[in-house]
Amino acid sequence: MKLTAEQIQSNWEIFLDNIKTHIPGNRGEQLTNFYKRYEERIILMPAAHKKEYHSAFPGGYVDHVNRVVRCALKQYELWKEEGCDVTTFTIEELVFSAINHDLGKMGDKDHEAYIPQTDQWRRDKLGEDYMFNKALPFSSVPDRGLFLLQQHDIKYTFNEMIAIQTHDGLYDAANEKYLKAFMPEQKPRTSLPFILHQADMMAARIEFEIEWLPKFSKNSVDTPKKNYTLNSNIKSSKTKALNSMSSPGLKNMLDSL
Ligand SMILES: [Fe+2]
Repeated sequence: MKLTAEQIQSNWEIFLDNIKTHIPGNRGEQLTNFYKRYEERIILMPAAHKKEYHSAFPGGYVDHVNRVVRCALKQYELWKEEGCDVTTFTIEELVFSAINHDLGKMGDKDHEAYIPQTDQWRRDKLGEDYMFNKALPFSSVPDRGLFLLQQHDIKYTFNEMIAIQTHDGLYDAANEKYLKAFMPEQKPRTSLPFILHQADMMAARIEFEIEWLPKFSKNSVDTPKKNYTLNSNIKSSKTKALNSMSSPGLKNMLDSL
């Protein structure tokens, strides 16, 4: 998918507006200043380095985060309607977690995490328009995001920390300690992590559909070529096998294959 310059610009305005609307006071200002400081980098960032992953195109990151914020607010209404105790977290915590859930994807303050792929073969054959920046020491996305926030003096609540940490749900085995607990006292005391995970999954799935389903439509899928090699192999190996077969029953059975 390709976003126009206007769409990229408009997404960025929506991104900043979400902070303005939902993160009040000093923390909102700090967050706005943080994102404005890294604006040039974040505004064009992809959400992933491979085409097969979601939103791996310029501006894909902000587009994804905005979708997660929208989905999170809609999921909130659904959970509330179904009886979820929404007094255990605030809308501010929900939106803060959604805005920052993938922040670790930006890299650290000096290095971008995704840089343009320099290997043309990998671009053509593997669909990698970006590659990981090897100058960046490894960290999980949630760990790096939380580190960046504290490094820039942006405070987060306990609820926000757990939600950002576990936003990949059980797709990340590291989250089992929070999400696979059997003892009631060890389960999260709020549904915020589940709401954020659902919103993220929903957004990523929809981004996959936008990018890939048209490619799988009838007129777009390549017609498989007749595999002459396989056919001729079967023929010759079958003849060879049949000639050396002593059991007539088995010979008949193989012959009919
Ligand atoms: Fe995400």
